[in-house]
Amino acid sequence: PGAPYLKVTPSMLKRQTGRRGKDAWTALGGRVYNISPYLPFHPGGEPELLRCAGRDGTKLFGEIHPWVNYEGMLASSLIGMLVEEGEETG
Ligand code: HEM
Repeated sequence: PGAPYLKVTPSMLKRQTGRRGKDAWTALGGRVYNISPYLPFHPGGEPELLRCAGRDGTKLFGEIHPWVNYEGMLASSLIGMLVEEGEETG
């Protein structure tokens, strides 16, 4: 069976800012993660981490700490794959 991962479009990602009772998601390297569980543990602080909430954080992340193994750290918080608008169904 295939992995039950969601296809996430930019507009879906945009709603996941961590506000209005929703979790904060970010996209890193084409994968979408729920970063809410990690917020209290981020060494750079919650406000810094939230700068990548609701959007593609790949560039920002890479500018700050490209050596950090986010794939390992966030594996249990993987939501799905980032896809183009309209590619979420089918
Ligand atoms: C530090 C993880 C996103 C800003 C760190 C460290 C880890 C980490 C493990 C410690 C690195 C070390 O000491 O070598 C993550 C993960 C992220 C993320 C998993 C994404 C999901 C961000 C973003 C920003 C940011 C988006 C800023 C916009 C910082 C800063 C530090 C830091 C400034 C340095 C803190 C210090 O040494 O005082 N992060 N980070 N991080 N992070 Fe992140």
